[in-house]
Amino acid sequence: MGSFLRLVTLLKNYKLPLALHMMSNLLMALFTVFSLPAIIPFFQLFLNQELSQPVRPEEPFAFSNADEYLKFHFLSWLDGMEQAEAMLMMCFIIIALFFLKNFFHYMALFFLAPVRNGVVHDLRSMLFDRILAMPVSYFDDKQKGDLMSRFSMDVMEVENSILKSLEKAVREPLLVVGSLLFMLYISPGLTLFVFILILVTALIIGGISQQLKKKSTIVQQTLGRLLSFVEESISGIKVVKAFRAEGFLQGRFREVNKYYKYVLNRVLWRRDLSSPLSEFMGITVVCMLFYVGAQSVFRGEISSEAFLAFLLAFFYIINPSKNFANAYYSIQKGMAGLQRIEDLLLAPDHMPEKGNPAPFKELKKGIRLENVTFEYNGAERAAINNVSLEVKAGTTTALVGRSGSGKSTLADLVARFYDVSSGRILMDGVDVRDLKLSDLRKMMAVVSQEPVLFNDTIKNNIIFGYGEASMEAVERAAKMANAHDFIMETSDGYESGVGDRGNLLSGGQKQRIALARAILRDPPLLILDEATSALDSESEKLVQKALEEVMRGRTSIVVAHRLSTIKNADQIAVLSEGELVEAGSHNELMDKRGEYYKFINLQSLSDSD
Ligand SMILES: Nc1ncnc2c1ncn2[C@@H]1O[C@H](COP(=O)(O)OP(=O)(O)OP(=O)(O)O)[C@@H](O)[C@H]1O
Ligand SMILES: [Mg+2]
Repeated sequence: MGSFLRLVTLLKNYKLPLALHMMSNLLMALFTVFSLPAIIPFFQLFLNQELSQPVRPEEPFAFSNADEYLKFHFLSWLDGMEQAEAMLMMCFIIIALFFLKNFFHYMALFFLAPVRNGVVHDLRSMLFDRILAMPVSYFDDKQKGDLMSRFSMDVMEVENSILKSLEKAVREPLLVVGSLLFMLYISPGLTLFVFILILVTALIIGGISQQLKKKSTIVQQTLGRLLSFVEESISGIKVVKAFRAEGFLQGRFREVNKYYKYVLNRVLWRRDLSSPLSEFMGITVVCMLFYVGAQSVFRGEISSEAFLAFLLAFFYIINPSKNFANAYYSIQKGMAGLQRIEDLLLAPDHMPEKGNPAPFKELKKGIRLENVTFEYNGAERAAINNVSLEVKAGTTTALVGRSGSGKSTLADLVARFYDVSSGRILMDGVDVRDLKLSDLRKMMAVVSQEPVLFNDTIKNNIIFGYGEASMEAVERAAKMANAHDFIMETSDGYESGVGDRGNLLSGGQKQRIALARAILRDPPLLILDEATSALDSESEKLVQKALEEVMRGRTSIVVAHRLSTIKNADQIAVLSEGELVEAGSHNELMDKRGEYYKFINLQSLSDSD
């Protein structure tokens, strides 16, 4: 029930509408119950063609005999009237009561809407904030679709099942209690009989709902897998078609889809049982009641009109009870969704910040890696193994090595996308884990191996969260990245959209925009994961020149593939299978005739520089 308590915490922000909702509900229940005694004279007039004579209560007015006074005044008021007139009056009264009942019903719903939507809105915001706050490693072994389904389906489930049922969970018991009180007033014996029958029904239904929550969790998980599948297939659609993998993917999709259908059937079968079951039990109870009640009427213990009103009150109980049972089912189902949302909200943060992290405003001396070792979650082999390296401020270090040697991983460690497994990374002598994370990130710009663009305009992709950028600054950055000319050729220039993930642009164009984004920030530390291809040799040269200019006098760590970048670096670090095998300048390493020499000779064969 921990989840439920937390939901209640969320509700705290909506005290006023919630209070108004409860009040309206209470009034609605009140008018529903009031309409019961008002109907008795109605039946009386029908069955006996006349009303009973008003009898003045013997005792003075008190709370306990308020009803007798009410009845007396009511009957005295109707006493002088004609039959038809009295009937008309009672019709008006009943219409008025039902009007009020429904008015407050609407008011209850009216005030519930902002609560429902507000809680869902808050949940979504919390989830999104949480997703942005999670460290990169959290997403390595997560399915995107599963996260998406928590975001959409689970939140919807919470709304549809829990919040919608909240209304019923409050109102229906009120109605049940009110009607029960009325029934008690008419005949305690019959009421006890009804009460026991209802209790038995509730127990039976409750038993079935036990399993529902567990099954619902499986349903949501399966849906997550399904969505992951679709998401991956859409983003990889070209590869799917090129390799004619449609059949293969269809086969796998069908499997998951079939399983989804299977578990969903099970959940629906169980849930749908509640309504027919409770109706069947309801009618059984009614028949028993008729039988038992009729005996009382025949014996003259209660009047027939009172019994009819009692029956009506009983019907007022059946529906709310049924609704309440349904609400209970729904809440169980919604709880599964809430649980999955909470798993994400409460997931441990693997990259905690220190209590009072050191501020970091300037990189004066440089970066030092000391015996850095790093393993990815669940990996057998360390991706980085005992690497020690010094990067002086204002110099460029090129990381070279074969594919999979750990270059990108090392760059990610410096940016603190991951934390080292052992060893330390120091910035001006301070462990990066002791630095204020936002300061660290502000100090650097990262251009990743695959450029990442968002579905927005070119301009906004360059500014991207860097608040106060003027148009001139954006253009200057774009010019340095050799992107300005092609941007001007697009239909709306800097205001052109780039499409989902930038798919309206070519690979090289995306890269240059990502570069402009980094240049605009003019960061003290530049981390660049050079793309292996994507640029034609013409624009490659221009980007190369831009890069040289950007890196001049700036601390840069560049994962380098191009010979020109490598040669110009102040220091070259050669990685092999996660280990640092050599470090030094181009000339030093060439003289050594070691790994680097071999690497360059291989490169030169394929490189025109
Ligand atoms: N997110 C990850 N989870 C688990 N293992 C990973 C992950 N990313 C990379 N690896 C593994 O870590 C090793 C180093 O990868 P890395 O991406 O650093 O190589 P790289 O030198 O940048 O290669 P390339 O030149 O091809 O980009 C590889 O063996 C790779 O399989
Ligand atoms: Mg890489």
